Amino acid sequence: MKTNFLRQAPELSHLKPEQGEIIDFTVQTPMAALKIVMIIPTYNERDNISSMIDALQAQAKKLLHDMHILVVDDNSPDGTADVVRTKQAAYPNVHLLMGEKAGLGAAYIRGMVHAMDKLHADVVFEMDADFSHKPEDVPRLMAAIDQGADFVIGSRYVKGGSIPKEWGLLRRMNSLGGNIVGRYVAGLYKIRDCTAGFRAIKTSLLGKVVFDDLRVQGYAFQVALLHKAVSLGASIKEVPVDFVDRTAGESKLGISDIIEFILNAWWIRLHSSKTFIKFAIVGLSGVIVNLGVFTLLLQADVNKYLASPISIEVSIITNFLLNNYWTFRWRKSQDRVRIKGLKFNVVSLVSLGVSYSTFIALSVLFPETHPVIHQLIGIAPAMFINYFLNSYWTFKHAPESGN
Ligand code: GDD
Ligand code: MN
Repeated sequence: MKTNFLRQAPELSHLKPEQGEIIDFTVQTPMAALKIVMIIPTYNERDNISSMIDALQAQAKKLLHDMHILVVDDNSPDGTADVVRTKQAAYPNVHLLMGEKAGLGAAYIRGMVHAMDKLHADVVFEMDADFSHKPEDVPRLMAAIDQGADFVIGSRYVKGGSIPKEWGLLRRMNSLGGNIVGRYVAGLYKIRDCTAGFRAIKTSLLGKVVFDDLRVQGYAFQVALLHKAVSLGASIKEVPVDFVDRTAGESKLGISDIIEFILNAWWIRLHSSKTFIKFAIVGLSGVIVNLGVFTLLLQADVNKYLASPISIEVSIITNFLLNNYWTFRWRKSQDRVRIKGLKFNVVSLVSLGVSYSTFIALSVLFPETHPVIHQLIGIAPAMFINYFLNSYWTFKHAPESGN
């Protein structure tokens, strides 16, 4: 870490220890130099890519990190790759990854896999080649990573950020519409700019994403990846940026990207509400089982103070089985069913306690009311606790599975 620090920050080399002097760099630089890979997808960006690489090299000098540039080119017919190759002769930190044209998302996925597996990146950036994203903003996005964020968005729609003044109504509506769909259809309510293409992501987070599961090829990738990051519990930060219109070349956003974008947002919505609906159905079945068993036991002259916990326990077991084999079936847990069952039981004890004490309190307070009413009311707080503890503990995603 100490040597890295000096290598990456030659202007600070006066801090080199004098002969025999001991300087603790861990105190002066609490952060270790990280390997950053700037992923730049290109399709016909011959007129932009050379100056973009130069501009990024200038920014690299300002960072206390090790910056590399990975251009992901899809055999651009305009010869973008040749320009990159001449740059590679001058800069050893420029990499080129070629492939067939399959869309912006597909290019990013290829680039991210390469950056992680081959270049061993700690942080990757997504950035356009066309100067819509200002290279001068790179250090600010990186600073947010240094401060602990996993996923940093160069955001046009937070205070201090902006879209170009010259954008016409159609372009504004298009961008606004994309964000509304992303936020309210895909459920990314808290994010102001969820279609942004200027982002910094830690690979400790990115490594958990199973790219095949995103099922996107085009611009929908931005929302799909962001949604995955949110569901993996990533710390997300929006840093304001000014988006600049490109001066050279043209946008590659096509109608198929827009269609895929909208379909993807609805798919995300359907998928997450499906889990929610299943959970609610299981909960309802639990209520029926609980009250059914309770009524049967009362009819069999079992004391109500014994009948209550027995029927609660029976419904907890049926809830576990249904949630495990149905609701959360897709969540790949590292735990065996036995362990999950054990966790569910611990949670059950807590919710049984809550439900039973509510029942006792109500029976004492309102002795005239039918015990089934008390039993029913007791279910509500217990189910609430059940949901959260089981969703975030028992059926928690295994980070390694990335699902
Ligand atoms: N390799 C590859 N393959 N690169 C591509 C492809 C592709 O199929 N499609 C686009 N690119 C490259 C472009 O050459 C450019 O460097 C970058 O990806 C962004 O493409 P633009 O065509 O300039 O996108 P835009 O300006 O319309 O959209 C920008 O804003 C959107 C949000 O409004 C981008 O930043 C998007 O990512 C972002 O979602
Ligand atoms: Mn652009």
